[in-house]
Amino acid sequence: MKILGIETSCDETAAAVVDDARVLSSVINSQVELHRRYGGVVPELASRSHVETIVPVVREALETAGVGLDDLDGLAVTRGPGLVGALLVGVNLAKAMSWVSGLPLAGVNHLQAHVAAGFLNNHASFPLAAMVVSGGHTNLYFVREPLDFELRGRTRDDAAGEAYDKVAKLLGLGYPGGRVIDELAANGNPDRFALPRPMLGRGLDFSFSGLKTAVVNLVNEHFGSEPVTGRDLNDLAAGFQAAVVDVLTKKAETLLKETGADRFVMAGGVAANSALRRAMTEMTARLGVELLLPSVHLCTDNAAMVAVMGRFHLQAGKTMSLEDDALARWP
Ligand code: KG4
Ligand code: ZN
Repeated sequence: MKILGIETSCDETAAAVVDDARVLSSVINSQVELHRRYGGVVPELASRSHVETIVPVVREALETAGVGLDDLDGLAVTRGPGLVGALLVGVNLAKAMSWVSGLPLAGVNHLQAHVAAGFLNNHASFPLAAMVVSGGHTNLYFVREPLDFELRGRTRDDAAGEAYDKVAKLLGLGYPGGRVIDELAANGNPDRFALPRPMLGRGLDFSFSGLKTAVVNLVNEHFGSEPVTGRDLNDLAAGFQAAVVDVLTKKAETLLKETGADRFVMAGGVAANSALRRAMTEMTARLGVELLLPSVHLCTDNAAMVAVMGRFHLQAGKTMSLEDDALARWP
């Protein structure tokens, strides 16, 4: 099945053509530079930028894949959750394309799509356990079937990526902060600054806002109002990252043991983190669990994951009608 996927839920305008599990094209226009000076995504700027770029991005995805609308079997778009003005751009284009072409349209959940990234260039078999760890979410799922996701754990406050971004801001490292901290931590000593492991050993929910506060207190105590630089910065990044990786890996291990799943998908922007990828690889190998880990560019927002999730919808006969709205929150 050849499917065109469209993603505009946050600050990436993306389109991709996927043939079953094979990515024929994946085009992403990142708005990071647009939002950087504000230290976070500005919803109205995001919507306007999607409007400007969505048509060329979709055209490029079709051209690179060497297909026209006639060659496609269906369309898929992120229906939610996300910024509603941003979502509407993709949803309205997808509806219009479906209307003129007669192609069936799937309205996909962005978080389920992140999990489906694990099936790109891979075979999909169920059940499995999954973790979506991004700028907006930190969720644990048991996935019985392609469309049967059971939420088993979530963050009670900040998402893991949000904690990365807030700590980066505090240390003057700019936005978004995940990759910078990842790089600094690679040359730091994770044991020099002891940081807490929030909610470890207490169920499958997460809490990351306390960890951020612990970093604030630690900086105040050791450095006052002086900027943290050099080796201190490396060690602080390493200490923070070790705490995040430790909590995520141990909770994922608990999920695997509780569900008995022998396959595990880790996805979302923070799944690009090098230390987290190493720790999850080690943990799943120890348990004899197969790890489906999307490549780094398929962990962050993209439309190939939307197309592959859309295939499951269309195979099940689940389509989005012209009356169905975008969903800022997905119940
Ligand atoms: O999935 P994503 O692209 O967008 C959302 O749906 O949120 O995730 C973005 C998040 C940001 O918070 C960013 O700092 C984080 O992923 N991130 C990372 C890394 N690369 C991106 N966090 C830790 N280590 C990284 N290498
Ligand atoms: Zn995302």
